[in-house]
Amino acid sequence: MKKWQYTDRIIAPSLLAADFGRIKEETTRAIHSGGDWMHLDVMDGHFVDNISFGPAIIQAIHETNDVFLDVHLMISRPDHYLPRFIEAGADMLTTHLEAEHNVAETLHRTRAAGCLAGLAINPATQFEQTIPYLTEIDMLLVMTVVPGFGGQSFMHETMAKVEAAAAHRKQHGLSYHIQVDGGIDTTTAPIASTAGANVLVAGSSTFKAPDMAAAISEIRTA
Ligand code: DX5
Ligand code: ZN
Repeated sequence: MKKWQYTDRIIAPSLLAADFGRIKEETTRAIHSGGDWMHLDVMDGHFVDNISFGPAIIQAIHETNDVFLDVHLMISRPDHYLPRFIEAGADMLTTHLEAEHNVAETLHRTRAAGCLAGLAINPATQFEQTIPYLTEIDMLLVMTVVPGFGGQSFMHETMAKVEAAAAHRKQHGLSYHIQVDGGIDTTTAPIASTAGANVLVAGSSTFKAPDMAAAISEIRTA
């Protein structure tokens, strides 16, 4: 698996914006267009007001491609479903701080299963609440929209948290990726990147672009 530097921009196309009737072909299209990771949004209709897909779809993608699967669990009980997502082939499992689970235990179980562990926070959650867990994670996801739907506008006010996360990482010699998710395009990618984010999730701006390869390359260099 490729080792990433924080100076590299990792572009993770979000499958939520793909044509769901052609999920495997859409994944292949994202990889051939230069996507680094596949971002897979799992929604349970309870933690967020939308329902997307579950482990069976992730397994189907895993069996077709060896792309890094960055699985974002927007579900109320990540602890209960964790083994099924690990079994399905997730490389990174990101769970929300706001969900109903013992966060430290979930992160520990994720890593113990050989998976990378991400921790996500909603726009309303403060960065300080993540501090107890930052030594135990591989990635912090700072949501740049209220989760649930693709195609929303980037919330600029979340950038203060990205800056705080990058400063904390440096100050404490830690090594987590900082991911942003929601409303990322050629205008907002450089803003997030300057604030300190190195993993950029992009759904609408990649899958719905007329030329996906050009869109990913522009987000990478913007
Ligand atoms: C939002 C999801 C995102 C979504 C982003 O709840 O977590 O990953 O797919 O979509 P865009 O890039 O269209 O804002
Ligand atoms: Zn997401």
